[in-house]
Amino acid sequence: MSRIKIAAVLNESKIGSEVLIKGWVRTFRSNRFIAINDGSTINNIQAVIDFENEDEKELKRITTGASIKVVGKVVESQGSGQSIEIVVISFEILGDANPDEYPLQPKKHSLEYLREIAHLRPRTNTFAAILRIRHAMTFAIHEFFNDKGFYNIHTPLITATDAEGAGEAFQVTTMDLKNVPLDENNEVDYKQDFFGKETNLAVTGQLEAELAALGLSEVYTFGPTFRAENSNTTRHLAEFWMIEPEVAFADNNDNMDLAEAMLKYCVQYALDNCKDDLEFLNKRLQDEDKSKPQVERAGDLFEKLKFVAENDFERITYTEAFQILRNSKPNKKKKFQFLIDEWGIDLQSEHERFLVEKHFKKPVIISDYPANIKAFYMKLNDDGKTVKAMDILFPGIGEIVGGSEREERHDVLEQKIKDQNIPLESVWWYLDTRKFGTVPHSGFGLGFERLMLFVTGMGNIRDVIPFPRTPKNAEF
Ligand code: 4AD
Ligand code: MG
Repeated sequence: MSRIKIAAVLNESKIGSEVLIKGWVRTFRSNRFIAINDGSTINNIQAVIDFENEDEKELKRITTGASIKVVGKVVESQGSGQSIEIVVISFEILGDANPDEYPLQPKKHSLEYLREIAHLRPRTNTFAAILRIRHAMTFAIHEFFNDKGFYNIHTPLITATDAEGAGEAFQVTTMDLKNVPLDENNEVDYKQDFFGKETNLAVTGQLEAELAALGLSEVYTFGPTFRAENSNTTRHLAEFWMIEPEVAFADNNDNMDLAEAMLKYCVQYALDNCKDDLEFLNKRLQDEDKSKPQVERAGDLFEKLKFVAENDFERITYTEAFQILRNSKPNKKKKFQFLIDEWGIDLQSEHERFLVEKHFKKPVIISDYPANIKAFYMKLNDDGKTVKAMDILFPGIGEIVGGSEREERHDVLEQKIKDQNIPLESVWWYLDTRKFGTVPHSGFGLGFERLMLFVTGMGNIRDVIPFPRTPKNAEF
């Protein structure tokens, strides 16, 4: 007999059929009822030991966390809570889990505690649900772009550029740090390093995605991204996954349309395909809400998701956002930590959240930011001081997408590179594309874990990636 997954047993098995299942024991009650989960669904299957004289020693091995193989008969359930169960014909413990040592008990553990045992988190209902949704979202993104004729491009993870210009890259080197080679000026001699130049982990795949788009028209990347930002927040990871589409012959309005359609598609995909897991997570949120003051409550997850899937995002320019914020109550009453006074300042998360959660009460796309707070590659507007940028802000998250139309004019781009002190020899190949058959083009980056935060309703980005990398934390 071959193994069948528990999801299939619950959904498809006929009453009276014999099945072989394998999984992990969640609970064992009254020396009779084993709840087993194999990760294929949030739901456990109940296996009932319905015979006398079972070997006591073997029964004692059925403990929370042990792995088990069960052959049994599918019957209608006697108890409430499930429609079918399995009557055990035989079972075998595959791996014991000593109850005195196993750190997961059949009770609710705090998310903080679970982070410390991230190697065992996938065995909890919450994390298994999140990881299944993460898979579904990955699939949704590939499906969305594939259906539109985009090609998935693999961009390098090791590069010699810092495309975002934020100086937050992790250096990559094989040099002996105790004996770094120096040149005649007493500077580090990168000629002797592995690549013969200074290199780092990529903070984006955008520049290479642009090269591909300028031949394939419509491409997207989906890969890991590394940023040595020392910000210990619930929204930042040092290693996160980013989706970066890049589209030739598209302007910033097309770019906003694409990003909005993609986000709605993903959210609808979760509603259509992850119902059980979302219901589980929603129940968790509702339970937590009960002990929270009104303003901190998460609210109903399904309502939040449906709202985003069904309503148009608000679109405003930076200048409009600036005016709303400057005239806002929290600004006038000096409640913002960073007061909005002069046009040109960068928006902080308190400002973004005000616009999304208080003012518009829906996702907001802000475009046309001041040039000097954005990256060099963004297309300069005719006013000479703003760029065709666009950020999408989500309730509870803040920035979820950042993108722009790209500067496709060779002379303007070259000047911007010089102005930002980026060495021309590190981006000559990027500039080259503006010399040969340049076209208007646009793209954006979606932070995959920020999407996951929104879809799952989780509050900390460390809990929506299997093994988070944050400052001072690279365990597991
Ligand atoms: O706004 P960012 O920095 O844009 C870029 O990297 C562009 N190259 C994208 C493009 O136009 N192709 O980052 C894009 C998104 C952000 O909106 C945010 O969702 C996410 O990436 N992000 C992070 N997510 C988790 N942890 C971090 N430290 C993040 N930094 C950015
Ligand atoms: Mg950004």
